[in-house]
Amino acid sequence: MRVVQTPDEIRASMVSRRGSGTVGLVPTMGALHAGHARLIERARADCTTVVVSIFVNPLQFDRADDLARYPRPLHADLALCEQLGVDVVFAPTPESVYPEPPDVTVHVGATAKYLCGAFRPGHFNGVATVVLKLFNVVQPQVAYFGEKDAQQLAVIRRMVADLNVPVTIAPVPTVREPDGLALSSRNQLLSAEERALAPALRQALIVARDVVAGGTRDTAAVKQLAAGTIPGNERLRLEYLEIVDPWTFQPLEHIDRPALAAGALWVGSTRLIDNVLCTPPA
Ligand code: PAJ
Repeated sequence: MRVVQTPDEIRASMVSRRGSGTVGLVPTMGALHAGHARLIERARADCTTVVVSIFVNPLQFDRADDLARYPRPLHADLALCEQLGVDVVFAPTPESVYPEPPDVTVHVGATAKYLCGAFRPGHFNGVATVVLKLFNVVQPQVAYFGEKDAQQLAVIRRMVADLNVPVTIAPVPTVREPDGLALSSRNQLLSAEERALAPALRQALIVARDVVAGGTRDTAAVKQLAAGTIPGNERLRLEYLEIVDPWTFQPLEHIDRPALAAGALWVGSTRLIDNVLCTPPA
């Protein structure tokens, strides 16, 4: 496994590999867990060359404290990549990715207007910009993204469509703990008490799914029932729970087709997100 640290190096090391088969890219911010591993395994099964990027992208953080305390266990991450048969890890420094603050960036419109886009201003512009930069230096045929970050997946899909980026986007289902909590690098920031409370978001989203499956089509009613299941606890604060179109991420008033119930829950000082597909009865 090769580990490369600058955009020039990764571009150069990809030249010879590109001729022989498919290149798959798994973009990550490190602190790798079984969710990331699932993406890497998918890439390993599909592609000749598997590249994993590990870069905590400052451009997509809206809070300095979140960026500062984001976990960065590089040695453990490299060991996991090695074990999973990764060919190249691209782990650049912020200075090599952004030698100066970028003047030209990707602007995401309506897809980033609601949900995380509304509560984290500039976040998806930062995500789209770094992902396009990664695509440009690695030039993969396929890139893997988790459905856990469903709005991010929608933004990237829209970016490659709108900007004619020649990369196939492969979605991967969310990997969960036995109690339903979606795996996240931020879970390790939870105290034991917070960890016990954290599945509340998933449980609320499942209520939304069940209420929709039972025939309720009025979004306001579904949201009220689902949000009402979040326990009253001083460590829990529901930031949003919305029902949106899974492709455009626009809110739906009536659920007359498959819709995504998505939420963000603060557990102490950690923000967790999750989503569940809701399908109304035929
Ligand atoms: P990060 O949060 O490290 O996630 C990297 C990839 O792993 C994303 O595509 C994410 O959706 C996926 N992932 C995370 N948890 C998952 C889970 N429990 N099950 C399945 N997939 C999961 O998302 C980012 O990094 C960044 O925004 C990035 C795209 C790398 C751009 O900086």
